[in-house]
Amino acid sequence: MTGIIGGSGLYQISGVDIRKKVRMKTPYGPPSGSYLIGEFSGRTIVFLSRHGEKHTVPPHKVNYRANIWGFKELGVERILSVGAVGGISSRTTPGTLVVLDQIIDMTKARESTFHEGKAGVVHIDFTEPYCPELRKILLDASRRSTAAIKKSGTYVCTEGPRLETKAEIRFFARIGADVVGMTGMPEASLAREAEICYAGIAVVTNSAAGLQKRKLTVTEVIETMNKTTGSLQALLKEALVKIPLRRGCSCKDALKKAKI
Ligand code: HPA
Repeated sequence: MTGIIGGSGLYQISGVDIRKKVRMKTPYGPPSGSYLIGEFSGRTIVFLSRHGEKHTVPPHKVNYRANIWGFKELGVERILSVGAVGGISSRTTPGTLVVLDQIIDMTKARESTFHEGKAGVVHIDFTEPYCPELRKILLDASRRSTAAIKKSGTYVCTEGPRLETKAEIRFFARIGADVVGMTGMPEASLAREAEICYAGIAVVTNSAAGLQKRKLTVTEVIETMNKTTGSLQALLKEALVKIPLRRGCSCKDALKKAKI
């Protein structure tokens, strides 16, 4: 089973026949909303809106542990995660889709592990934060797309919910970030801890703070997101049918030799 996490502006996937809506209980409290279980091309897909069905949960309040736990409980082995981002490098102009390959975590106060207390301590390998097999599937799928798609990119995750200052963006550019968002972490590392394959697709909705003359607005973010929804959904659907039954990567063994 494959899961999809939708961010701002992506609340469903057209063409995916929703058969069931499931509410999950987890040891970490409630996930962002119901999991929508549907069929696409003979495959079962599980969709979750990261910010809730009515977009009521801000980035720093998302219950990332509950969301990933819910997917795990439902039997999801792979997650394609979508998030809106600001573009920092010149490669990432608004409207571009980026198949992410690296992360810089600048979050401050988020619950970021399933393993504490009685569960013991775990240090997962996170050298390559995104599943290489899922990334390759997305890159193969992108060959069929006419959209502007970048094959790699470093995502810096801020705490939010405010947007960044000009100096912060200058700093992020210097340390090698291509795009900035508020939700990529700890989602990606929790998926790894849960031994779920995880790939991130960033939708560049605006140029990051200070890189454009006009003020940054959420209206701009949503407008660009809406314009790219078509090509984003086409990419996701093309990728979904390419996913093999069995996993050939090491994500399924992430906890081996990771426990103290
Ligand atoms: N910064 C952080 N998160 C974002 C942005 C941004 O400029 N655009 C969309 N999500």
